[in-house]
Amino acid sequence: MGYAEVYNAAKTDPEGFWLEQSQAIDWVEAPNKALFDKGDNLYEWFADAKVNSCYNAVDRHVENGRADQVAVIYDSPITGAKEKITFADLQTRVAGLAGALVAQGVTKGDRVIIYMPMVPQAIEAMLACARIGAVHSVVFGGFAAHELAVRIDDCEPKAIIAASCGLEPNRTVHYKPLLDDAIEQSKHKPDTCIILQREQEICDLIEGRDLEWNAAIALGTPADCIPVEGNHPAYILYTSGTTGAPKGVVRHTAGHLVALNWTMKNVYQCDPGDVFWAASDVGWVVGHSYIAYGPLIHGNTTVVFEGKPVGTPDAGTFWRVIEEHNVRSFFTAPTAIRAVKREDPKGLEIKKYDISGLRALYLAGERADPDTIVWAQESLGVPVYDHWWQTETGYCIAGNPAGLEALPVKIGSPTVPMPGYDVQILDDAGHPLPAGELGAIVIKLPLPPGTLPTLWNAEDRFQKSYLHAFPGFYETGDAGMIDEDGYLYIMARTDDVINVAGHRLSTGAMEEVLASHPDVAECAVIGVADALKGQAPMGFVCLNSGVNRPHEEVTKECVKLIRDQIGPVAAFKLALVVDRLPKTRSGKILRATMVKIADSEAFKMPATIDDPAILDEIKEALQAIGFAKD
Ligand code: COA
Ligand code: AMP
Repeated sequence: MGYAEVYNAAKTDPEGFWLEQSQAIDWVEAPNKALFDKGDNLYEWFADAKVNSCYNAVDRHVENGRADQVAVIYDSPITGAKEKITFADLQTRVAGLAGALVAQGVTKGDRVIIYMPMVPQAIEAMLACARIGAVHSVVFGGFAAHELAVRIDDCEPKAIIAASCGLEPNRTVHYKPLLDDAIEQSKHKPDTCIILQREQEICDLIEGRDLEWNAAIALGTPADCIPVEGNHPAYILYTSGTTGAPKGVVRHTAGHLVALNWTMKNVYQCDPGDVFWAASDVGWVVGHSYIAYGPLIHGNTTVVFEGKPVGTPDAGTFWRVIEEHNVRSFFTAPTAIRAVKREDPKGLEIKKYDISGLRALYLAGERADPDTIVWAQESLGVPVYDHWWQTETGYCIAGNPAGLEALPVKIGSPTVPMPGYDVQILDDAGHPLPAGELGAIVIKLPLPPGTLPTLWNAEDRFQKSYLHAFPGFYETGDAGMIDEDGYLYIMARTDDVINVAGHRLSTGAMEEVLASHPDVAECAVIGVADALKGQAPMGFVCLNSGVNRPHEEVTKECVKLIRDQIGPVAAFKLALVVDRLPKTRSGKILRATMVKIADSEAFKMPATIDDPAILDEIKEALQAIGFAKD
């Protein structure tokens, strides 16, 4: 069957299609039914089944002849460490850590926060939670203590698993002081913290609360896999919304297993035993789906890479890893390829390595610009597949189903909707738009298995954020179009979310932080074009009357405030003091117009603008720092 047949099969008989796909999973109690309609536009998949994710990702492979196959390759160009962990080793390590959690009183349904760098123990921690039915929530290491505290208070973890430090090329990230600070700030306190002491930095442990990794394992006995219901939350992953409060995306166990397993062959062209590499971070959804779960569920070897595309040690790192570990499918963000291209425009580093085992490069996380795609196609000599997804969906909404049928690549398009996704383009009033016209990208409900059923402790917010604007549809927050051939194009966000180096950030959250500066009366944060990172945040602040300090002093404080409150990942380095912000007559800040001015693009004067002269002031301020060129 080709793409069209499979897509149509999933559309006409979702129940039959997904039940058939579910046969690739080892169930404790197989599902009798695929889709459960919970009313109020809420749906669940395989809710009547019983299953365990860790069993499917680890134990079943040990039992089925893959015990000695390498499951995880750890490659850290930052420390020089390399390690190969077989499925049998992984089972021992994960069962031990799961036993440690049990010994600390963690049971099915308890939340566990994981705050770790790119080391194999991060994957082991996720799987250990899955093994005993605990719900993990991984927090990206680039977030500051405050962001960690917000997540601690929202999901109220019984335990936290962390490392003593992370390693960035230019500095050590002191995880433990950040963790201690976050627990100090949060109302909820975890009972236990299990800490991986890395040899690069041994941290202090707080007696009565903190346990060293191996000591914690020694206190327990290896734990078995516990069957959980198909709709049991596998994890919560926080992502940026329009406000400072992150959204806790919930992932149910069974749909996640079925959907990810389907993608490994049909999208990523992997057969069990192949090496798959997603150069992302476990703190992001890509890391959850394609560093941890997807490859392992499907019996693939996954690569845990602690490094950067450039500088660790050079722009050949990716190609060295691909050669050394015989990577068949490689997944990263366009920004990473841009970083490599900037340093090695002629692709000389690529020629130093034998990457003939590579089948394709997959890009996601942000818009893939044509220059980057063409450079990668020509330099690597393999197909380059852009695919579009969100934390909410957990895997691609649109992509090129290369393992099923490689469709022609149209540069600028992530290709076509995947089975189960009925993607449509609507105007503001909810009317379908014809091919080629730009509108809101929505997905007809129900969403396929593996996608978010709700937000953690926030069903109302789930309804309001995703389901209210277009009744019967999930609102993606992206705008775009579909062409005559059914190819999708993702053009922009329709909300205040920006994408910096493939990282999803909320300008609203940054505005909340800037507004807390004692000298700031009002502010706006926008995303301006950035050649490397796609977008970069830029803040505009108006000072309280009577504040007579040098502007550079205030802007420096603003930059520091965002780094301290949100974290270095916000990459907030541009701040400007202005007298006034451009607004509509009803007081709405004209952020989209400000973006156009900063990016030196033509714009239409908004009809509702209160005082057009303010736009000239903004332009002047931007020109002074090299933006808004005439
Ligand atoms: N822990 C702590 N800090 C982190 C971090 C982590 N896991 N990841 C990033 N940071 C820090 C960086 O050190 C940097 O700090 P600095 O301001 O002190 O230099 C800051 O956060 C901004 O990071 P980033 O935006 O990633 O910029 P960079 O200049 O360090 O690297 C790239 C640029 C393009 C090389 C890098 O962004 C990259 O590899 N991107 C790929 C993105 C990706 O994989 N996205 C996942 C979706 S697929
Ligand atoms: P995240 O939830 O961090 O994965 O970010 C999801 C958002 O990133 C999407 O809503 C898009 O705005 C953007 N995005 C992800 N992949 C792509 C892509 N292939 N093309 C364009 N935008 C993308």
